[in-house]
Amino acid sequence: MFPSFRKTLLSAAFGVLAITATSTGITASPQIHVDNNSFRCIKEMTKVREFYVDNLIGNLEGTVLVAKAGSGEYPPGSVLQVMPNEVMIKHHKGFSPATNDWEFLWIDNDKNGSTIFTRGAAEVNNRLGLNCFACHVKARPEHDMVCETTNGCDPIPVTREMFHALQNTDPRCAGSENVSAKDQESLRQLGEIVKALTGQQSPEAWGRGMFARHSPPVDSSPTSLRLGVLDG
Ligand code: HEC
Repeated sequence: MFPSFRKTLLSAAFGVLAITATSTGITASPQIHVDNNSFRCIKEMTKVREFYVDNLIGNLEGTVLVAKAGSGEYPPGSVLQVMPNEVMIKHHKGFSPATNDWEFLWIDNDKNGSTIFTRGAAEVNNRLGLNCFACHVKARPEHDMVCETTNGCDPIPVTREMFHALQNTDPRCAGSENVSAKDQESLRQLGEIVKALTGQQSPEAWGRGMFARHSPPVDSSPTSLRLGVLDG
């Protein structure tokens, strides 16, 4: 309810901006449009180190440049993902000064595509109620809220192998139903960690499809791992 209220406020704000721009002759940047079709199979995006990037307004080159440099400000339209369900999108200046104009989103995925579960700026939580911004703001300023493993954010107990397994089993990707033994094992380990942290959810529930559109909210999310981190 709150995000949509906020969205209304935002569109109102942008509406005013547009009018001001027209009356003064200044060209305001158009809003970056984001909907369920803005996302795709994570492995079809461009991989830089451990994460994947895209650009919604055709400036992939600019996004890749900053991603490869590992520091600097991402250009508007940039899309960043390391987990198939969590997305950061860079908007034009003025979208949200607090988040450096990043939008945080949780998307649910299945073989037919993505459905936005929640979106917004500093107030956005993942399905566990953990605040995206609270973690990402800890990245040193030159990294523009991007954590990776060395940018100053608190570490999370998700190994490279677990990220790879999540990426390989992104249900939006063709062939993702063929899960390798290695990925199966990584998902099982991820499940064990989550089980230990949350005291619920059987590891068996953590196979392929655990991030499906109709997966139960909250407890079946791998980001429950982060609950432990935050508490610690
Ligand atoms: C408990 C802290 C925490 C929370 C909550 C959190 N993240 Fe992250 N996020 C991280 C860390 C740490 C990494 C780096 C992981 C790695 O590379 O090992 C990361 C990685 C990412 C990346 C890849 C780029 C980067 O910063 O390395 C994206 C995109 C992302 N998170 C989006 C989100 C979104 C969207 C949410 C909320 C829906 C969210 N995160 C919630 C800590 C968090």
